Amino acid sequence: MSDVILSEVDGHVGIVRLNRPDVLNALSLELMKKLVAQLEAYDDDPNIYAILLSGSEKVFAAGADITDMADASTFEMYNRNQFARWERIKKISKPIVAAVSGYALGGGCELAMHCDIIIASETAKFGQPEINIGVMPGAGGTQRLTRAVGKAVAMDVVLTGRFLSAREALSAGLVSRVVPKENFYDEALRIAQELAKKPPLALRLAKESVLKAHEMSLSDGLEYERKLFYMLFATEDQKEGMKAFIEKRRPEFKGK
Ligand code: CAA
Repeated sequence: MSDVILSEVDGHVGIVRLNRPDVLNALSLELMKKLVAQLEAYDDDPNIYAILLSGSEKVFAAGADITDMADASTFEMYNRNQFARWERIKKISKPIVAAVSGYALGGGCELAMHCDIIIASETAKFGQPEINIGVMPGAGGTQRLTRAVGKAVAMDVVLTGRFLSAREALSAGLVSRVVPKENFYDEALRIAQELAKKPPLALRLAKESVLKAHEMSLSDGLEYERKLFYMLFATEDQKEGMKAFIEKRRPEFKGK
């Protein structure tokens, strides 16, 4: 039996591909366990500076595996505490690029929203159709989608279960780029490689600061940002980056 995720390293980019094609990459408990372990392993690996998360060209992920939950009781779901794993994805400090083609539904859409840059192929379809199976989003869909696209679109998507096309997702602010399906993966990998050339500590703190914008008031967020900005003056990469600019040459960042 093939593995439910595939991992490989390309330079300083750690790649994970969801691999349950028969069930449209449904996010089983086993898959989520392995995915989170792999993301954490990349986060701990000093040779990895950026992460790429992808499905196939046909599907990113069609949501949590419905067969895992269909017969569960409230107590079983509570005890299983499956969303604790998703909290661990939130704590990954390195930037994660999501390469999304085809369906990104339910937990699949929520997984993409846990990433930092979403690159969508023109065939991508985003949705939170849980309403159609008697539930609602449980891995942050009502919260992250609303913050990304605003109440009007989020309410429409969550209550009707309709899918957003890649273009709609782009104009609503859910994704940052739409690319042809033939090269969505290469384009996302290229962007992850581009991130991997940036100063890694500045990347991590910049990610942390942007994410705080969803959790803090503006004045607290500005204060937080300023402190992280000052912190970077303790790094060799700041000295190198500014010196290289003045000397009109390419910087050589070391992650120190
Ligand atoms: N869980 C388990 N199996 C799934 C699945 C899922 N989320 N999505 C698709 N599959 C399986 C189907 O059962 C089917 O299996 P069989 O071949 O054995 O019958 C196979 O994948 C192919 O699916 P379809 O035949 O349905 O393919 P389609 O092209 O006709 O339709 C689809 C595609 C519209 C995505 C449809 O599969 C679908 O609606 N899937 C469910 C989407 C959904 O409701 N997602 C939310 C899940 S709940 C959740 O995610 C909660 C949370 O917040 C964490």
